[in-house]
Parts: sequence; structure tokens; C-alpha cells
Amino acid sequence: MEKQEKRTLTGCARLRGEINVPGDKSISHRALMFASLARGRSQISGLLQGEDCLATLRAFRALGVHVDTQDHTRLCVHGAGLAGLKEPADVIDCGNSGTTMRLMSGILSAQPFFSVLTGDQYLRKRPMKRIVEPLGKMGARIFGRDGNNRAPLAIVGGSLTPVKYSSVIASAQVKSAVLLAGMQTEGVTTVYEPHLSRDHTERMLRYFGVALESFSGGAQVTGPVEMDGRDLVVPGDISSAAFFLVAGLIVPDSELLLKNVGVNPTRSGIIDILRQMGGSIELLNEREQCGEPVADLLVKSSQLSGIDIGGELVPRAIDEFPVISVAATFAAGVTQISDAAELRVKETDRIEAVCSSLNKLGGRAEPLADGMHITGTGHLNGGSVSSFGDHRIAMSMAIASLRTSADVTIEDTACTETSFPGFWALLNHIRQD
Ligand code: S3P
Repeated sequence: MEKQEKRTLTGCARLRGEINVPGDKSISHRALMFASLARGRSQISGLLQGEDCLATLRAFRALGVHVDTQDHTRLCVHGAGLAGLKEPADVIDCGNSGTTMRLMSGILSAQPFFSVLTGDQYLRKRPMKRIVEPLGKMGARIFGRDGNNRAPLAIVGGSLTPVKYSSVIASAQVKSAVLLAGMQTEGVTTVYEPHLSRDHTERMLRYFGVALESFSGGAQVTGPVEMDGRDLVVPGDISSAAFFLVAGLIVPDSELLLKNVGVNPTRSGIIDILRQMGGSIELLNEREQCGEPVADLLVKSSQLSGIDIGGELVPRAIDEFPVISVAATFAAGVTQISDAAELRVKETDRIEAVCSSLNKLGGRAEPLADGMHITGTGHLNGGSVSSFGDHRIAMSMAIASLRTSADVTIEDTACTETSFPGFWALLNHIRQD
């Protein structure tokens, strides 16, 4: 991301209002992928037009899929079926998006052509062995830097053999890459994981009519599958809502209604964590939409207390730890986060980035090998922090700044476009000074 954009923010008296957060990033990627691999027309509404999902959209256009964009969140994909993709004429740029690169690797490994995936300076540093290894066991030929662990990845696609793969990490990207390869492969492909990671791939495959089996500890697909186009509605992203949940809790005298948010249990760890900390969050108007649970979330300012977070809760809140650390800073007592070494290989090392940023503003956060030890100070000072080029660090610092005693300057905020276009306007819309 080339644009930098430095912003200076001031604290505010209270937050009030009703907001809609943009579409879920994980579901938007999958909607574009499954609609492209299905035969015929799929109308998608509520799609996240963040940079990450636009990278997936551009990738499928480069693979010959025809997509009509109707307005900024609605588009129509004319899928050509599993056999309809074409060899791309150029390298595919996944930008900052790990989901694009890892899931596309699963798709492209089984396609009868050559393709190359690259990304920005952050994505090219992230580990890819986690997908290269299981796909390799299926016979995929993927080559990359650093012993096939870093992008650019060159993929010599071809027919694969099914596997039973046990992943040592709970990663939806690993699970999905294997299932996406498996759905194009003759036979039964099974993937096991130590804790349940987000299950949007499984739900969406079922929504497209594929007989996918989920069981405790994994999922199984019998390929090759056939899918026809279906209309999809993408719910609001709970990972984007998380910033406003924490804001509504830590700013006194606040009340926010977040409409139409996805509350899939594999994603709603943030609600469980904040409630355990004493946060008042109500789920209203619970319903199901295209196989995904959705609700409106009502959040009111609350006195929070520190808690221990680890185990199965971690994959259910994996993207929310930067903003959970902000909640922990304004909670009484200590919050200990463990079993979260994965945070070190996200868009940036989120353990180091969060601890150094909070400490710069007068917080007390100690990095651990697999998490953080945060002592609630109930207070932060003004100062200057960096986003480290990471959208979720930039937005977490913006939420922290609502309660600082002086102005906070955040360097390099343009990265919020990755997952949350319109974040700054929405924040302004609900603040009452
Ligand atoms: C995602 C899975 C998660 C998450 C990422 C999106 C997905 O990564 O951190 O932002 O859409 O599958 P892991 O599954 O690797 O933990």
C-alpha cells in the first residue's frame, strides 16, 4: 500500500448511534471464489469492497471469469465452472491478503495451467509452508522463496490425489486451501484441526449444495464437486464491528447499535471475551442469512475487568486481539493472552506491534512468546504511534485514542482500506464531543 496518511485524533465525551459495518472479509473472499467456480450467474450483495477482497476479484478476472460490478457492494459473477478458469497472462497480485494467496493456492494447484502469486512487502514475509506442505502431499507443485515458504509462489497446476491431513495449527486458511484443492480432486479429502477455526468455507460449500461433511475436529469433501451459481448476501464483519464494540464499552456514557453483523460461533469469540470482562453486549433480531447466523449488537459502556484468554477461544477471536488489548488497558486488573503465537505471523507481528504501541502511550503491555500480559491502567497518554502497515493496529490505536488524555497521531493509516473502507467517517459519525 503506497499511500500513507498520518492522522491526529482527540478523545471524545461519548459515542451514540446506529451503524452498519462493511461486509465480512472472509465471507466476501469465499463468495467471490465459490461464485467463480460455480456454473452460471451468482448475484452477490453486501460484498466488502476492501483492498483484500478486490485482490481476489482481480485474480478471478485475470483467470477469465466475467464479473459485472453493479454498485459499490453488489456484483454479478458469471462463473464458468471448475473447468472454466484460464491460464493468467501475468503474475497475480494478492496485495496484503493472506486469504487470497492461501486459498487461491488451493484452487490453482488443481488447475491445468501455470500461475504465479505475489503480494505486498508484508505478505511476501508471511509463511506459506503451512499450505505448500499439505497441498504438496496431494501432489501439488508449488515453488517459492525460502525453501517454498515465501511468495512469490509459482504453481504448476495439475491433477491431485486426495489426502487425510492433520494440521498442527487451527487455521481456516490452511483448512480451506486443502478443501478447495480437494473439491477439484477425485476421491475423499479430509482435513483435521486442533481447534475449530472459522467454518465459512464449509457453510458456503453446503449453501452451494455440496455434500460437505463437518465433524468435531475437521471437515471432509468428496470431489470433484459440481456447483451452480446462487445468490449470496454477505453479513457485516464482526471483526470490523469489534472496534466499535470496544469503543462503546470503554467510552463512558455510550450506546451503539451495530446492525446486521455476522455472529457465526467460530467468529464470535470477541463477544464471549468482552462479556466475560463485564461488557454489556446484547444480541437482537437473531436470524440466518445464506447459511450464516446474523444479529444486531447493542453495546453500552461498562466497567471491565481483566481475564485469562487461551485455548479454543483464540481461533474464535484471532483477528480481534489488537483491539482486545485496548479493552484490557481500560479494564481493572490483568488480562493474560496465551496460545496465540499465530499473532506473530499476521499482517505484522501483532504481539510486538500492540505492546510497543500501548507502552508508547503509557500503557503496560508485556509481550510473551505466545501472547501478552496486559495490566489495566485505566488511562493512556497522547503521543505518536505507527500502524506498522497493519489495518487492525491502525484501527485499534484509533479506538484507544478515544480515551487518551491528549492527542494521538497515527502514522500510515491508509492501510485501513484493506478491510474497512469508511472507518474514519463512521468513527466521526458516532462521536459526540
Ligand atoms: C481468515 C482466517 C484467519 C484470519 C484471516 C482471515 C480466512 O487466518 O486471521 O484474517 O478468511 O480464512 P488463519 O486461518 O490463518 O488463522
